Amino acid sequence: MSRFDAVTSFNPPSQPAPGGPKEIVRLGYDRASYEYRGPRQSAPAQDYDAWLDDLVPRLPRPSCVLDLGCGCGLPVAKRLVRTFDVTGIDISQVQIQRARILVPRAKFILADMTAVDFPEECFEAIVALYSLIHVPVDQQESLLGRMRRWLRPGGYLLATVGSMEWTGTEDNWLGIKGVTMYWSQADEDTYSGWLANLGFETLWTKYVPEGDRGHTLLLARVPAAPPDAPSGTRETP
Ligand SMILES: C[S@@+](CC[C@H](N)C(=O)[O-])C[C@H]1O[C@@H](n2cnc3c(N)ncnc32)[C@H](O)[C@@H]1O
Repeated sequence: MSRFDAVTSFNPPSQPAPGGPKEIVRLGYDRASYEYRGPRQSAPAQDYDAWLDDLVPRLPRPSCVLDLGCGCGLPVAKRLVRTFDVTGIDISQVQIQRARILVPRAKFILADMTAVDFPEECFEAIVALYSLIHVPVDQQESLLGRMRRWLRPGGYLLATVGSMEWTGTEDNWLGIKGVTMYWSQADEDTYSGWLANLGFETLWTKYVPEGDRGHTLLLARVPAAPPDAPSGTRETP
């Protein structure tokens, strides 16, 4: 049994409230999964290789990696499962169904990432690309705190966060009539403050433009555990 099989508690049931932001996101990706990634794809993928190329060599073998908001498993889980144990979480049933087919060697869980829980220190890395920004911003700091606990000492977080503060929706998203999408994000300084307070060390940030807006991509790390003190040096009161 791998560490991520020890998963998972859901708290409470992971169905989003009808009509709320998470329901908008869930229904949106159920309807737009193939337009987002598939034959009619609109999502960018070309930079992902470079981003993952930065992360992959930093991780020990074996490692467990969590792909939060994994979508249909492409391209992140598909790339990482070549080397690591990968668990993907997504709120959209269509995305998870596709991921199970497209990346059969990874494990996928249909859940709201704010309602799922894992044992402490069970992942060497968490990847959350373009997914945290769909979670209402008032829930993101506590989610980052839980992610911090799931990471082992020395573990990494590769995440897309907001560059500018913004919460809103778009109708007829990706040109699909009747599909609405919801986003919510703080500005980059706010994320930096949250991460620092939670004990992350941010290694780099990068502005990733998208049309006339853009997001911040960051790589952060949980400090490694201090080495054991040499015997005979233990201090006593
Ligand atoms: C923009 S897509 C990105 C997918 C993938 N990470 C990628 O970069 O290609 C965002 C994904 O996050 C998922 N998502 C959004 N909010 C979520 C939540 N609260 N819990 C779990 N998944 C969520 C969506 O269903 C969607 O598949």
